[in-house]
Order: sequence, then C-alpha cells, then structure tokens
Amino acid sequence: MDDYRIIHPILPRKDYGKIENVTKAEGVYVYSGDKELLDGIGGLWNVILGHGNKEIEQAIAEQLAEVGFINPWTCCTDIVYKLADKLIHFADGDFAKTMFTCTGSEAVELAIKLARRHQAAKEKHEKKYIAVFETSYHGTHYGSMTATGVDREYYGPYGPMLQGFAYLPIPFESKQTTQAAIQSLEKFFTKYGEKLGGFLLEPILGVSGVVKLPDAYVKRLKELCEQYDVLLIFDEISTGFYRTGSKFAYQEMNMKPDILCLSKGINNGVLPLGAVLIGNEVAQMIKDHDFINHFSTQNANPLCCAAGVKTIEILERENYGEIVNRKGAYFKQKIEALEKEVSFIKEVRIHGLMIGIELEMENDFSKVLEFVTDLKEEGLLAYPYNNKYSTGIMLLPPYIVTLDQIDSMVTILKNTIVKQIQYS
Ligand SMILES: Cc1ncc(COP(=O)(O)O)c(C=O)c1O
Repeated sequence: MDDYRIIHPILPRKDYGKIENVTKAEGVYVYSGDKELLDGIGGLWNVILGHGNKEIEQAIAEQLAEVGFINPWTCCTDIVYKLADKLIHFADGDFAKTMFTCTGSEAVELAIKLARRHQAAKEKHEKKYIAVFETSYHGTHYGSMTATGVDREYYGPYGPMLQGFAYLPIPFESKQTTQAAIQSLEKFFTKYGEKLGGFLLEPILGVSGVVKLPDAYVKRLKELCEQYDVLLIFDEISTGFYRTGSKFAYQEMNMKPDILCLSKGINNGVLPLGAVLIGNEVAQMIKDHDFINHFSTQNANPLCCAAGVKTIEILERENYGEIVNRKGAYFKQKIEALEKEVSFIKEVRIHGLMIGIELEMENDFSKVLEFVTDLKEEGLLAYPYNNKYSTGIMLLPPYIVTLDQIDSMVTILKNTIVKQIQYS
C-alpha cells in the first residue's frame, strides 16, 4: 500500500517504516492480516481495558439509539451530566466543574486559556506566562505544541508559536541530584515567578522516558506556586485512570492541581474525548465572569461520553489500583532480570503499567526506530522515545494484560536485544 492517500502525522515518511494495516483488535492483541502483534502500548496508551470491550461497545450502541448528538451550544443530555459528575467523584471530589474537549491537545489548549483568563480576572495582566518542562509533551495544537518542549527543534517552519512560555530543565533523579534541580527551580521562579500564570506539568513525564517528579521537588514547587500565585495545571492525559497504579498520579504526590487535563484512558480510547477538571478557585472565576471562550461542535459528544461513563464504571467496579500495581511489579521484576543479563539496557523506570526502558542508543532516534521495527517483526508493539536526557522505548499495555503475556513481551524484548547485540 505504497500509494495510500493519508499523510503520516509527526514522523517523516522515511522514518516510520511499514504502516501496519490492522484488520482486527482484541484484548491485548492487534492483527495485521495473519500477523498477531502484542499491543504493548495499548493503542496509543489509551486502550487501558483492552481492545473490543463489549460493555463499552454496548453502552455506545445504547446511547446512539437514544441521542447520538446534541448541539452543545444550547443543549445537554443526561450522559454528559453523568460523566461530568462521575469524573469529579472519581477524582475524589477535588474539583468543582468539568469542561469537555475532543482530544488531549485540546484539553491542554483549554487549560492554558483558563489559566490566563483566571489571572486576567484577578487583574494580574502581567501573569500570562506558562511554565513547562523542556522535554515535556503536551500535544500538537498551537498552544499545546508550544508547551511541548521535546520537539521544539522542528517548530521553525510552523512559527511564530504562541507567546508567553518559559521552559525549565526536568528534575531527572538519575542524571542530577534533586537538590540541584530544586536550586534551578528556585532560580527559575526568581526570574519568571511574577510573570507566571500557570505551571503546566506531567507528574510523570512520558516521552522524557517515564520520569517521575521527585517528592522533594514537588513539595518545593507547590510552595513556590503558592508564593507567586501560579496555578498548578496537571497534564494527566497519559498518567490518569490508574495508568501509574493510582487513579491519578497527583494523588500519589499529595498535590491538589487547580486544573487537571485528561483524555486517552478516559473512555478506553474508542472515541475521541478529553476533559478538563477545574478546581474551586478557577470555577468561581468562571462563574463570576459567566463563560469561557472555548468551543468545538463535537465537545461532549454523547457517544464519547457514554464510553467514558462505562469505562469509569468498570474501573470503579474492579480493583484496578491493585491490579495495575501487581502487574507492574511483575513486569519490573522480569525486566530488571533482563537488565542484569544484557548490557544494552541502561535503566528501567516503572510506575504501575507505565514502563520506560532506557537503552544504549547514543541519543540516536533512528536506532530506536529501527529497534521498534525489529520488535514489531518479532510480534510486539512498543513506543520509541528520544530526548536530550534519555533514549529508549516505552511500554504501556492494557491493564488486562496477563502474566503470560508479560512473559511473552519480555521474551520478545530479550530476543530482539540479543539480535541487536549480535549484529552491532
Ligand atoms: C501527556 C500528554 N499530553 C497531551 C497529549 C496530547 O493528547 P492527544 O494526542 O489526544 O491530542 C498526550 C498524547 O500523547 C500526552 O501523552
């Protein structure tokens, strides 16, 4: 299928290899013709309950039979109210309001607007800046793309980007002491604090290589945000809904974001949906000023919301915190054993079922792309990453992955590494 008429997002054609034509997806497997592939990245980190979940399919069908679409400008429908309410309860009632979007990028877009609007409402017109980490990923709309630190070298031809972003180094515990990272955070606030309206962060940075913000760093960050009146915006688009073993990573960190961006696992990834949960202070500002200038025709689409309600019902019904932590611990044990066997693995970072495997790849993205292609040939879908700190692969399997399937994934990884070592 060389002459297909779609343009690949993100990667130049020469880099992405053969596109698989998926003909069936079921549980933890996707099929391309007669080839069976273990989906080690659950779609694109979003198919948290596995492909083809029948309960979710039925919920969508029932909603379609009732109300398939509403004009979100002048109408609402029960399922939309229900999901808004469910999300707030699922987040343990820490938030006051929900706004729906179609994607994660759009959720980040909205969060940036909310932060700026909030500061403007407080007459703090100088506080327009948004702080972000230099290897963060937040999406590809203009706001979220500007907020994304990791791909900035490719932005030239698309410029000018959105103004008012300040980038700071990530506190990567294995590369730098947390104390040094806190000092650079303090310097950053001395320089930008008065101008900052919001601090946008991934609590566990995904494409940076699965890097968790250290506790002491987060504690100091919280103090500085309070001191400088900066809103804390958590992007939990990839970490939310038990991916890291907790409902949301912010809960593990003893934090209370003012704004929370969600998408991906929100509805098991079957239909496009994002959401922004809004804390009391920002919600009060919206109430006082009556509206937020953000809208898209498909926001809060009832079918997408029905899939979301059913996904959360399933997450609430079963003990996914325990399930994800137990399977993550098993994965960790297996990969750490492999790490001892082969010198090719530099470091393994695992939080729940969010797995980062740093490889000896000399910061060369083309090598990782080749490695991921080899994994695919062996039957495993993995995600390549590369940034100035770290190069390697990520695995984010569906939570229904079995221990046997984990064994198979690690065996494929081992075989591919052994081949790689033999041929290099
Ligand atoms: C942390 C994070 N933020 C934002 C996004 C963008 O979400 P979407 O691809 O749905 O626009 C992603 C997607 O990978 C993500 O991982």
